[in-house]
Amino acid sequence: YRSLGNGHSSPVSPLKLFGQAKKQINDIFKHIKEYIEETEKFYEDATRYVGSVVSEEVTTSMKGYTARVQGITEVLCRDHMKVVLFGRTSNGKSTVINAMLRDKILPSGIGHTTNCFLQVEGSDTSEGFLLTEDSDQPKSISNIKQLASSLSSVKLQENSLIRILWPKDKCRLLREDVVLLDSPGVDVSPDLDSWIDKFCLDADVFVLVANAESTLMQTEKNFFHKVSSRLSKPNLFVIQNRWDVSVNEEDAMEVKNQHLDRNVQFLADELKVMTRSEAKDRVFFVSAREALLSRLHQDRGTSTPVGALQEGFQGRLFEFSNFERKFEECISKSAVKTKFEQHSEGGKLLMSELRLMMEETYDNCVEQMDDKTKFRQEKADRLDYLDKQLRLLSNETKEKIKAMVEDVERKVSAALNE
Ligand code: GTP
Ligand code: MG
Repeated sequence: YRSLGNGHSSPVSPLKLFGQAKKQINDIFKHIKEYIEETEKFYEDATRYVGSVVSEEVTTSMKGYTARVQGITEVLCRDHMKVVLFGRTSNGKSTVINAMLRDKILPSGIGHTTNCFLQVEGSDTSEGFLLTEDSDQPKSISNIKQLASSLSSVKLQENSLIRILWPKDKCRLLREDVVLLDSPGVDVSPDLDSWIDKFCLDADVFVLVANAESTLMQTEKNFFHKVSSRLSKPNLFVIQNRWDVSVNEEDAMEVKNQHLDRNVQFLADELKVMTRSEAKDRVFFVSAREALLSRLHQDRGTSTPVGALQEGFQGRLFEFSNFERKFEECISKSAVKTKFEQHSEGGKLLMSELRLMMEETYDNCVEQMDDKTKFRQEKADRLDYLDKQLRLLSNETKEKIKAMVEDVERKVSAALNE
């Protein structure tokens, strides 16, 4: 819980888990990098002073380690949590995203509105901008009308991607590294396979935005079938949207139970990606339109006009927040696991290779040191022997010379006497 400074506290978003893990793993790699630099310096010095300890192989592999850590750190910086929203046209996919972002960022409307993939990501800039696949040139957008016209002015293909870089300081989700992908209706796009390959394989969570006014269609189910055949145990959520429209019908409760039954049966029995009780926690009856509207007014500090929200809207708003909470828990856990597990494995492998190399170098050094000590000992023994010999020799010589001198002296004095 985070203190709000007014005696109250608000629950800390589960998304923080991702940010914390990202920071932690980043710090670990920073340390690994420092360690590699230190090792590299050690090897450089060793090559300079005791060349024979380090083989050329070692020096080249050191360069490889630096590049590997650099590569992992770069990927790490780009890592994010990704959610893909899909469903039939006009079910309210774009409205759900806007409600989650608490801002009218994506164009929504009656008819087939979104006709390519729109990815909303956070940016550190103060203004939003667009990036299309065909150019590196950012296109500016300052409001939704301009975005809608920018989108219609670029020639779009269904499976093309437009990235909307939106200021992080305007949206909490974007600040926490969530990337949201809006898609064209599954009913208007024939090529679901290439969609999945191109946009969904790195997704952490999939949200099906269904229309509570009708039952789940085969085209919608097909998408989940395809996703679960490509990814093992994908994280799936179902939003029964437009609940504000159906909830006031006489048989609303019956309809709700029927939807819930069928959705649970689909997720648990047909797809087999979760248990029945888990599946019950993955279906939400909401109104994205009401959620967006009330949030916009709430953030502006104005009251939502009477009649804009249908009777019983509080329950649907609560359900929308409930969905977000479950979604946030799920996406952060999944992203930490899938994204960072791979990096930590990479880091561990690198460190064990480095350790092996250091151990080899150490063994090498010890061996060479032993050789040198032995050599030194032998040399010392020889010197000792020589020393003794010399000493012996010099003693003998001294005696001889003394005898010779005495002899000469004797002879000389005898000669003088004579
Ligand atoms: P495409 O981009 O065309 O595939 O549609 P979409 O799924 O993105 O739907 P969009 O968000 O554009 O919404 C379609 C229309 O439905 C808009 O006029 C929304 O205002 C409206 N709408 C969305 N959600 C709700 C809802 O919960 N209740 C009601 N009553 N209307 C909604
Ligand atoms: Mg749309």
